[in-house]
Amino acid sequence: MTAAASKQPIEQTLLEQLESTRQQLDLLRDQIAESQRLATIGTIAAVIAHEFNNLLTPIVSYSQFALQSAQSDQPDMDLVRKALTKAFQSSTKAGRICQSMLSLARGQSSLGSVGVQELVDETLVVLARDPQKDGIALRVHIEPDLQVQGDVVQLEQVLLNLLINARQAMLGRGGSLTIKAVRTEEQTQARIQIIDTGPGIAEKNLPRIFEPFFTTKGTAQKGETKGTGLGLAVVRQIMEHHLGRIEVQSEVGRGTTFSLYLPLAKPAETDAPAQS
Ligand SMILES: Nc1ncnc2c1ncn2[C@@H]1O[C@H](COP(=O)(O)OP(=O)(O)O)[C@@H](O)[C@H]1O
Ligand SMILES: [Mg+2]
Repeated sequence: MTAAASKQPIEQTLLEQLESTRQQLDLLRDQIAESQRLATIGTIAAVIAHEFNNLLTPIVSYSQFALQSAQSDQPDMDLVRKALTKAFQSSTKAGRICQSMLSLARGQSSLGSVGVQELVDETLVVLARDPQKDGIALRVHIEPDLQVQGDVVQLEQVLLNLLINARQAMLGRGGSLTIKAVRTEEQTQARIQIIDTGPGIAEKNLPRIFEPFFTTKGTAQKGETKGTGLGLAVVRQIMEHHLGRIEVQSEVGRGTTFSLYLPLAKPAETDAPAQS
């Protein structure tokens, strides 16, 4: 009886300690997610600043054309129209890039039905810099009408991190970047793959790449901040949050494939009465 009586307070203390450790872990997870969000924004901000310059150059020169012609004695309306169209297209694109950045920065979480095609399109806009310019051939194959259940902003962050990694892996050496998305055979999940032909990941590093702060990027890359080692840690966390998973296959000298598995969107979650 004395033994049982003395055990109980210890169990109680252990339980309390466990609970407080769990709370600390949750807090740390949130903090990592937050710092990763900032790191991602830092990385893409550098790319976007570069891309904005490219977008602004034609906006300025086409607006100048239009102005000069409009102020002349015989305005060339065709030229004015063409110049304004070009300026409008470039500024619309710049606006979309800004909007994507802002929703990413807000880090809002709301689960819903997300079209994979739109998700990929939007992420490529945020990525801003055309991969072609870095000698990277981009291919996108997405099964039509593919919808997953998720938070569009967070899923964008997942894709963005994988695309930035793939681009960094191929920077200066070129290669191809393929985005593929299909329904799995069981028809319950979507599989989205990001396939690069970069240098691959050394076998000894492979088990560590999802660890927070694990990075092999010691030196600053051209125009982009050096690695934080947080990208894949948060990618995995977001995938878990979505009841999905991420797998990696890599072969040194050949390339790397990341595969994301996500639940398909529930068909029209309307208030249709439940069948009994
Ligand atoms: N597509 C890839 N090709 C080669 N190595 C990769 C790729 N993606 C990730 N890695 C490796 O995984 C490490 C961790 O990636 P990540 O968590 O995104 O951090 P960071 O990009 O800041 O280094 C990278 O430093 C790199 O060594
Ligand atoms: Mg990264």
